[in-house]
Amino acid sequence: MNILGIETSCDDTAAAVICDGKIIKSNVVASQKEMHKKYGGIIPEVSSREHFLNFLPVIEEAVTQAGITYRDLDGIAVTNGPGLAGALLVGVNSAKGLAMAWDKPLIGINHLEGHIYSAWLENDELGKAYGFPMICLIASGGHTDLVVMKDHLEYETIGRTVDDAAGEAFDKAARILGLGFPGGPEIQKMSENASGLVPKLPRPTVKNSLSFSFSGLKSALARRAESEGFYSNGIPSNPTDIQVREYSAEFQEAVVDCLVKNTLAAVEEFNAVAIVLGGGVAANSRLRIRMNSDSTVPVIIPAPRLCTDNGAMIGAAAYYRFRDGYSQEWDMDAIPNLKL
Ligand SMILES: Nc1ncnc2c1ncn2[C@@H]1O[C@H](COP(=O)(O)OP(=O)(O)OP(=O)(O)O)[C@@H](O)[C@H]1O
Ligand SMILES: [Mg+2]
Repeated sequence: MNILGIETSCDDTAAAVICDGKIIKSNVVASQKEMHKKYGGIIPEVSSREHFLNFLPVIEEAVTQAGITYRDLDGIAVTNGPGLAGALLVGVNSAKGLAMAWDKPLIGINHLEGHIYSAWLENDELGKAYGFPMICLIASGGHTDLVVMKDHLEYETIGRTVDDAAGEAFDKAARILGLGFPGGPEIQKMSENASGLVPKLPRPTVKNSLSFSFSGLKSALARRAESEGFYSNGIPSNPTDIQVREYSAEFQEAVVDCLVKNTLAAVEEFNAVAIVLGGGVAANSRLRIRMNSDSTVPVIIPAPRLCTDNGAMIGAAAYYRFRDGYSQEWDMDAIPNLKL
């Protein structure tokens, strides 16, 4: 079953052709990061306009690279939430147009479900290999959710961030340290040669819960930076290489500690058989190492390029939705706050 997966919920216009929920025949991402870099974050209107310009070229490239024609597609899947309203609307309406013109079934996929099903890409049937329940940690620019996956397409959210998402925290910390956008990869890179010289930052917790809180950690970094004189009035002021390196590493370690701690607690509480990571922060090399070394159950983490937004994950999730029985979704709408 060949599915064209389309993703436009944030700042990547992406499309992929996925066979049977796991074989990546093509995976094309037109990133807007360079465009947003100069603003230090994502400007929603710019994002919608870029999706509009990139949509058809990206679709065409995905189908061509897959070595098929649109006639060989069995269905089209598009992210219909959560995400930026204008960005989602471009994807949903354009996908409807394609489905109508090509006479293909169309399905809407929850972006977070897509992040989870990234783990099924290039992998055998994980559910068969490990069974259920699995604990899924979705850590991205807009979400930090802990989810119990009880079976295919069956989820219960058991923890989420009460303020900033982990990726957002990385992006804000990078700004404090005078690094570029997106902040996660920059902080990871700067952390590589750190020697653990600075006093520890806090590891915030949410009492009696599996939820997360990162805004206090970001504020603690800002206060520390102010007291060391390399950040004032919300602007970095010439931090030294050593300061950037050491605080990057300590901040990264603090975020990773929080993510690993709650995920492992969830495994215990729900007797989970495996952990699945997804979302842009799952690309973080330190998180990948720590989750693997600290967990007693298998940890499945998609390749880094499949952690950040892509169309392949939407095609993978859609395979299971189509397999489960499907009805044409012409009335599908973009839902910016869609829940899992
Ligand atoms: N190596 C990394 N280490 C830490 N964070 C990273 C890394 N790579 C990417 N990120 C972070 O991941 C986020 C982007 O992830 P993703 O593309 O999944 O988010 P999004 O789609 O914007 O948000 P959401 O999925 O919640 O809608 C950014 O905040 C970025 O800083
Ligand atoms: Mg995402």
